[in-house]
Amino acid sequence: MAKQNEELTSKAAVFRSRLIEWYDQHARELPWRSKPSLYKTVVSEFMLQQTQVKTVLPYFKNWIEEYPDFRGLAKASEERVLKSWEGLGYYSRARNLRKLAQQLSEMESIPTKAEDWLGFPGIGPYAAAAICSISFNDSAAVVDGNVVRILARLTGDATLYKNSGEAAKRYREIAEKLLNHERPGDHNQAMMELGATLCLKQNPQCLLCPVNAMCKGRLNGNEATLPRFEKTKYEAKQVDRVWIADKEGVLLHKIPSHAKRMKGLHEIPTADQAGIRLNGQKPILQKKRSITKYRITESFYRIDRGVLPEPLAEGCKWTRKSDLESLPLSGPHRKWIGELLEM
Ligand code: ADE
Repeated sequence: MAKQNEELTSKAAVFRSRLIEWYDQHARELPWRSKPSLYKTVVSEFMLQQTQVKTVLPYFKNWIEEYPDFRGLAKASEERVLKSWEGLGYYSRARNLRKLAQQLSEMESIPTKAEDWLGFPGIGPYAAAAICSISFNDSAAVVDGNVVRILARLTGDATLYKNSGEAAKRYREIAEKLLNHERPGDHNQAMMELGATLCLKQNPQCLLCPVNAMCKGRLNGNEATLPRFEKTKYEAKQVDRVWIADKEGVLLHKIPSHAKRMKGLHEIPTADQAGIRLNGQKPILQKKRSITKYRITESFYRIDRGVLPEPLAEGCKWTRKSDLESLPLSGPHRKWIGELLEM
């Protein structure tokens, strides 16, 4: 590995000039790149974590219209912010973005170095480097999944990593060596752009790649197999949910503020949450989905409103059908409610 690093250092200057030339010619026109501002950069980087550009585009447009600046976002209720985020997933991003807006709009001067952003809500090494390099020209290298893929291929590294996070730690030093200190923000965006448009997981477009001549993986003919990750071990999980609806409304459960995920969102309650004991009935609908390492089968049981405990179990509320539209629901639950209402 030390030898690989040495070779790479001598090629770093060529790498960064080819990359930036390519980016100047091929960068996609994206709404957060035209007339950039710190606010637009922060919003786009929060949205782009774990989410593709094409999914983010309509959300970004609506967001900027609804909350034009940090102050506007800081003033909005958490419920409204979750509603605007609905469908993007990983809702802690929305809650943290609102908290960050509240902190930043109170500050007299906003820090410009990635290391000083690390304590802010929702800001890890990736977001700190992306935001500060793009907005303040800070020399901080981004190492996200795209960058890991590029660097594993560039160095021909066939190490079997546990996951992308472990590989990212390993590649930080190389990413920093390659960084363009004159244009760190554009360099970082160019890396992410290369990963998103050419250095694809499957079918990498090597013929179009500006740095193909220095790519070890390509030279070895195994670029498409890199980086290598251990296979995720999936665990099966069964979730039983109760569908309790009449002409007026449906029973929903609001996820409490102490929960790990999805706080403040509404869902179709599980039997436990609603205080209902199931006894052998057949589900009216089944759905499968994966969340992290879990392969989940969600079964929905139709239950009569008359058997609901009184008062309703904690967090459960009877919700008018006409209010469904305005409540924050997770993407899958909104879809399932649509299907169940039709049944
Ligand atoms: N993914 C995350 N941030 C990005 C950016 N600024 N440009 C392109 N892709 C990205």
